[in-house]
Amino acid sequence: MAAPKATLWTRDAHTEGKHLVLEHYLNAWFPILGMGNRNGRILFVDGFAGPGEYEGGEPGSPVVAMRVLAEHSAKSMINAEVVFFFIENDPRRAGNLRDHVDRWRPKLPANANVHVREGSFDVSMKDVLDDLDEQGRRIAPALVMIDPFGVKGMPMAVIRRIMANPKCEVYASFMWESMNRFVSEPEFEGPLNELFGSASWQEARRLDGGERKDFLHGLYQRQLKDAGAKQVVHFHLFAGNRLKYSIFFGTRHTKGSDRMKKAIWKVAPWGDFAFRGGRQDQLVLLGLDTPDLRPLQRQLQDHYGSQGWVTVHDVLEFVRSDETIYHDTQVKKPVLKPMEQNGLLRVDENTRTRKWTYPNGCQLRFEPHATS
Ligand SMILES: C[S@@+](CC[C@H](N)C(=O)[O-])C[C@H]1O[C@@H](n2cnc3c(N)ncnc32)[C@H](O)[C@@H]1O
Repeated sequence: MAAPKATLWTRDAHTEGKHLVLEHYLNAWFPILGMGNRNGRILFVDGFAGPGEYEGGEPGSPVVAMRVLAEHSAKSMINAEVVFFFIENDPRRAGNLRDHVDRWRPKLPANANVHVREGSFDVSMKDVLDDLDEQGRRIAPALVMIDPFGVKGMPMAVIRRIMANPKCEVYASFMWESMNRFVSEPEFEGPLNELFGSASWQEARRLDGGERKDFLHGLYQRQLKDAGAKQVVHFHLFAGNRLKYSIFFGTRHTKGSDRMKKAIWKVAPWGDFAFRGGRQDQLVLLGLDTPDLRPLQRQLQDHYGSQGWVTVHDVLEFVRSDETIYHDTQVKKPVLKPMEQNGLLRVDENTRTRKWTYPNGCQLRFEPHATS
């Protein structure tokens, strides 16, 4: 899609997937970071905020974020100051967004503050980070959404500075079709060097199709890790069979990767980490609560089958990490219990008091996979 010129544009079906995942993640993020005096201030940055709405009246990402807080069941227990920082470089879109913010402000709790900044993401973030550096302070724990048209203006150098705070996370998307095209266009060399924080993406020119996609996705994931993310979860938004957006979430914590995977599973319950806008059976399938978890059984056997005894705690940490696409509530009853029933798992009875339970200190031994 070429970047639209009008202030508002039509929301694509796949954009809804991006917003739904954001909504589910923020629903967990606000209380985890904002409750119990853990942090004095928390920050949601929408670096390419848009006008706050789409042509059909659907909410834009800044409104999605404000609405999650305004309607949160734990709102009164979130005692950190919650700052929304929306950056948008188009004056008309920034103006439209300000109107939305004015309408939402009265619904937000008194400890929430909203700022709309007209300007570019990289320069605005650099200004904020430079000011903080001068004062010898660090950026507050933040979720930073980076959602441009195309690939320009989202330098890895800025992400590296954000990720210097261990409690900061990024939710970055790029449009796959633009990226695929720009790889061969000389004028995009600079923006792509900035995006990846490296010139290694140029190797993709020799590759086609799926190989090119896997190479560039793998490179972006590695570069995010080099910039400080310890866990990188990524998923895809499709329109029909066409990959539209690749979304990457970077965090230092397995709790973050686990919560993000839970958010993705809610929106994409097929276990393929892909949201397919317009899929006919979407609404029916969204009700699914019994996904096929046999691939996780197999992954646990492959990972632990030759390792001897391990604790449930270690297994949960492995599942929460970016090494799997699963999350921790999919482990005990849905996977460990049937594995034990089928003789694929032994449990040290001295480490639990009740059969078919798996407390965190419980010791397990996985049988190697039959063919391995
Ligand atoms: C894909 S749209 C964002 C949509 C919005 N995040 C949402 O989900 O509703 C990208 C927005 O970024 C703005 N933009 C483009 N370049 C920018 C830059 N360098 N810094 C900040 N905003 C920019 C565009 O005007 C556009 O409104």
